[in-house]
Amino acid sequence: MKLAARVAKIKPSETLAITAKANALKAEGRDVIGFGAGEPDFDTPANIKTAAIRAIEAGFTKYTPVSGTDELKDAIIGKLKRDNALDYKRSQVAVSCGAKHTLYNLAQALFETGDEVIIPAPYWVSYPDIVVLAGGQPVIVDTLEKDGFKMKPEQLKAAITPRTRAVVINSPSNPTGAAYSPEELKALAAVLLDSEILVISDDIYEKIIYANYPFANIATVEPKLKDRTIVVNGVSKAYAMTGWRIGYAAGPEQIIAAISKIQSQNTSNPASISQKASVEALNGDQGVVAAMVLEFRKRRDVIVQLLNEINGIKCMLPEGAFYVFPNVAEIYGRSFRGKKITNSTELIDYLLDEANVATVPGAAFGSDSHIRLSYATSLKNIEEGLKRIKNAVANLD
Ligand SMILES: Cc1ncc(COP(=O)(O)O)c(C=O)c1O
Repeated sequence: MKLAARVAKIKPSETLAITAKANALKAEGRDVIGFGAGEPDFDTPANIKTAAIRAIEAGFTKYTPVSGTDELKDAIIGKLKRDNALDYKRSQVAVSCGAKHTLYNLAQALFETGDEVIIPAPYWVSYPDIVVLAGGQPVIVDTLEKDGFKMKPEQLKAAITPRTRAVVINSPSNPTGAAYSPEELKALAAVLLDSEILVISDDIYEKIIYANYPFANIATVEPKLKDRTIVVNGVSKAYAMTGWRIGYAAGPEQIIAAISKIQSQNTSNPASISQKASVEALNGDQGVVAAMVLEFRKRRDVIVQLLNEINGIKCMLPEGAFYVFPNVAEIYGRSFRGKKITNSTELIDYLLDEANVATVPGAAFGSDSHIRLSYATSLKNIEEGLKRIKNAVANLD
């Protein structure tokens, strides 16, 4: 069967594939501990679920305006003002079916052949492929572990060419957990001020931050960049609402109108019920978020400590999100039953086969010296899973 050439240009999402594989093994009866999932293990808070149930009961089950209801746009505008000191009008906000869909629409709206998009690595798996699907060219900037996996202004400067259209900033980061301080963003902004480059600020992990500075968005830190920054956010991670599929973009009117136009020819509006639930998420009690973050922080401390106790693994302390990204390069070259482990994919296969632990290879995020573990799982699973990894690593020759 002949398929469009674009299909061959991209990879399936590796994180989703690994979660599916771990779930399939569990369904076969294998006692697999999953560190693959990119979603909170908590339930969606009760007030949010109730809002959705009320929406169904009230018959709020029909099409809504393509780019979201005014009620939800107003809740988003309120959130951006309250949390980020950013002012937007309804015409500057578009709601889509998850932040991934927002990013996809955005790429379709902005990029075409020859356009370069700067993506710092390690990066979230989907950025390069979303750019490629739009015909653009990802330009990967390798950040260094010694710099806390943060792009330096001079690295950004060196990556800019006359074809650069945009740069992606994801803080706190999936997969590294790195979170830029306001000063670090200001330094990146200084480089961008000399250009016309757009900034895509993926703030999806905004609420999950443990750094000793607050979350910052580049447009808040440098207001001169606001007219060319597109803020991408959503309810998936902060409110344990991954399945509800609500994400949004806020930015220049023309870009938002383009997103809405594209969306009108693919999904139409995001689910009406999820929109009602998201209004409650954004406007309702925020105490649930703080409770989740407190629990994530405890788990982060435990998992980092346990990882650093393993011979051959070194793990930085993440400043946000719910992932650790340990360096496992020292393990490469060791063997199991005569078979050498030489890269992150072989290591995660070994850990799944021999230790019943599902992790994600760093190669999927642009760094083969690392693996990613999500600590959106219980402390019990973290302790047991890390014991298994420690034993499996110790069994290598
Ligand atoms: C960095 C980043 N951005 C965006 C998304 C997409 O989130 P969603 O589509 O669930 O809103 C994810 C999900 O894993 C992510 O890690």
